[in-house]
Amino acid sequence: MNITLSSASPPAVDVDLLALGVAKSADLTDALAHLGEFGAALAAAAGADDFSGATASVVIYHSFGQLKAPRVALVGLGDGSDDELRRAARAVGRAARGKGIDHVGLSFGALSHSQTQAVIEGFGAGNYKFDKYKAAGDRKAAAGCLSLLGGACESGFSSATAILAGQSLARDLVNEPAAEIYPESLAAVASSLSDDRITVTVWDEEKILAENMGGIIGVGQGSSRPPRFIHIHYRPEGTPTRSIALVGKGVTFDSGGLSLKPSGSMMTMRCDMGGSAVVVGVLKAIAAIQPDVEIHGIIGAVENMCAANSYKLGDILKMRNGKTVEVHNTDAEGRLVLADCLSYASELKPDTILDFATLTGAVVVALGEYYSGLFTHDDALAGQLLTSADDAGEGLWRMPLPIFYKEKLKAEWGDIKNVGGRAAGATTAALFLSAFVDDEISWAHCDVAGPTFLDKPFRDFAAGGTGAMVSTITRWLTD
Ligand code: BES
Ligand code: MN
Ligand code: ZN
Repeated sequence: MNITLSSASPPAVDVDLLALGVAKSADLTDALAHLGEFGAALAAAAGADDFSGATASVVIYHSFGQLKAPRVALVGLGDGSDDELRRAARAVGRAARGKGIDHVGLSFGALSHSQTQAVIEGFGAGNYKFDKYKAAGDRKAAAGCLSLLGGACESGFSSATAILAGQSLARDLVNEPAAEIYPESLAAVASSLSDDRITVTVWDEEKILAENMGGIIGVGQGSSRPPRFIHIHYRPEGTPTRSIALVGKGVTFDSGGLSLKPSGSMMTMRCDMGGSAVVVGVLKAIAAIQPDVEIHGIIGAVENMCAANSYKLGDILKMRNGKTVEVHNTDAEGRLVLADCLSYASELKPDTILDFATLTGAVVVALGEYYSGLFTHDDALAGQLLTSADDAGEGLWRMPLPIFYKEKLKAEWGDIKNVGGRAAGATTAALFLSAFVDDEISWAHCDVAGPTFLDKPFRDFAAGGTGAMVSTITRWLTD
């Protein structure tokens, strides 16, 4: 999507749809007075359509030749905060996509740097739709151009565009069926990020076995699609200010294994590589922004299937760091895959490790589809991540991580078991992961099981993948 700053007046701007922002407190007639008689007619029509100016409410009308733009939208801006502007822009993006509109003009008033970013990111997120498998006549094109009227900060254009590109890639990866995105093809997408500053290394099953990654091998052994271990390495041009490892759960399909999921829960389990999609999406954005930070993207890609050679309940897996894990449920597979990835990440001795995973149903029960759960012992890191999430307009909520719950993971035969019971399920999953992270390294776990995939549209995000956390983490790495 091309983004431009336009100095044209609203009646004269040459776009396919002109979206006019209306503040919550504004009187509609006054707000549209600059459009003269047509403004008065619009205000009357919108009033009759019960348009109240509530945040992200949208009405669209033909302009009957009264404006250069053939269509005009009124959109509620709420209190005008970054978050409300982002939501309003998202609603416009969604409405525009519904009509296949190519060139949209947004007149939301003069926008500060953060408002500019919020509006661009919001519009792009709302304009996204995964309809490539629909018949041609049922598909609507995404907008090709967004023009910002009334003044905006051009300095925010490129990072917002980079974030959108990363987020859209993450959404595509989640939305693609598991028949398309499996460990090998996910690795191919990651490899396509290679450039001057990024190298991508992919290990096949044989190498994964030789590298003692018993968790990845165990989970992956029941699939005809062999696992892959992926290491994406971004090196900045100058000396890096810090070194960060981003680890992603890449379960390209989670059937539950022998602890088979019922159909209803299995239906959307192509989304179970959502954590790895965050890693790939962030690195795509990073490739464009090129911050002075060294970044490792580490992904364990496997398919968790129910087959004759699947790993079994009671199996004892020997993990990369030497610990043994007793398998009590083959559906608690993500933590087994992540464990090996976290051990590998620890060996790289980065300053910080962040992992992303659609890890537990428990976090969805606790926090719903808006919030990811944040688990860390590092208060400073938590504060930074929560601030970045706030800036990005993404939901992130800190959850407890008390070490005394570790006793729920005590095993009979091995060092640790892979489930800790129903109570505090998201926390015990995080505590399991902590056993594979070097204590010296600052670490946070982000359980994205709620926001990664929407069963139905929510707050002007289309159903399916949302790219949640790509914006937050890219901001955290670049701000
Ligand atoms: N991939 C699921 C978690 C999940 C649930 C992701 C809903 C997205 C939406 C994970 O592998 C899983 O099955 N977790 C189990 C763990 C249990 C067996 C301890 C769960 O949450 O039920
Ligand atoms: Mn599972
Ligand atoms: Zn899973």
